[in-house]
Amino acid sequence: MTALSQTALLLELAPVVERNLDRHLAVAKEWFPHEYVPWSEGRTFDGPLGGEAWAESDSTIPDVARTALIVNLLTEDNLPSYHHEIATLFGRDGAWGTWVHRWTAEEGRHGTAIRDYLTVTRAVDPVALERARMTHMSAGYANVHDDEVLHSLAYVSFQELATRISHRNTGRVTGDPACEALLARVAADENLHMVFYRNLLAAAFELAPSQAMRAVADVVADFQMPGNGIDGFARKSVAIALAGIYDLRQHRDEVVAPVLRQWDVFNVTGLDADGEAARDEIATHLDDLDRAASRFEEKRDARAARLASR
Ligand SMILES: [Fe+2]
Ligand SMILES: [Fe+2]
Repeated sequence: MTALSQTALLLELAPVVERNLDRHLAVAKEWFPHEYVPWSEGRTFDGPLGGEAWAESDSTIPDVARTALIVNLLTEDNLPSYHHEIATLFGRDGAWGTWVHRWTAEEGRHGTAIRDYLTVTRAVDPVALERARMTHMSAGYANVHDDEVLHSLAYVSFQELATRISHRNTGRVTGDPACEALLARVAADENLHMVFYRNLLAAAFELAPSQAMRAVADVVADFQMPGNGIDGFARKSVAIALAGIYDLRQHRDEVVAPVLRQWDVFNVTGLDADGEAARDEIATHLDDLDRAASRFEEKRDARAARLASR
């Protein structure tokens, strides 16, 4: 069987986009960022209005929660780049275009809500945050597989779920019920985004199983969080992993494995030689991830024991 071109894939998947767009619109709940922000806690800052500058002591949320909130917000902030990526690849017409715009509008709400919350509660240094946003957005973002439809669908299926887990666990670590409620609300959106993309790739597995398997294998092998270009990301992601907000175990067991299970990748039939090779690569990668996750957990436990014995 000859491989389907990118254009053919987009055309063939258009009816699936339409069905899943209808489904999404039926289940997505309208919500308002302003309702999740404790505005009465706010105070005017220094600068033109002559209020009080931010100080470390303004907020009692744990350091690692701050770090995770900043990473999550900067990730949301880069939305113009993500929009560019998917609008260029999926197009702005028909059901694909409707989805691209709708998704962008929903994601825009996330950045608005989280920034309002952080500013009003003085949870993070607003000057450092704004500088980090400028740096991060100025660098832009490009998906490594940005000219391949199935690779991009596979990437966002994992990425939306990863983002969901990261938001939800960040909320938990803040110890602030208001922040937890906000991030749970955002996480619910990310979950619906994941379902949309996962359903599309499930249809691609029927349409072009070997191409879909290749896309998944490539994406699983070089997966990076969308915020990986953030200044100091490596250091920040270690702190985030040590706190159990997002670590390799969660990546393997709560993101990669469940999505692969939904696609039933190990029972897909009709694969050509490369499709079979891709599936073997996925199996090997899952084993590698399992070992790496266990190593990390052992190190984290040893570190916790050391800290406890001090
Ligand atoms: Fe988001
Ligand atoms: Fe999302």
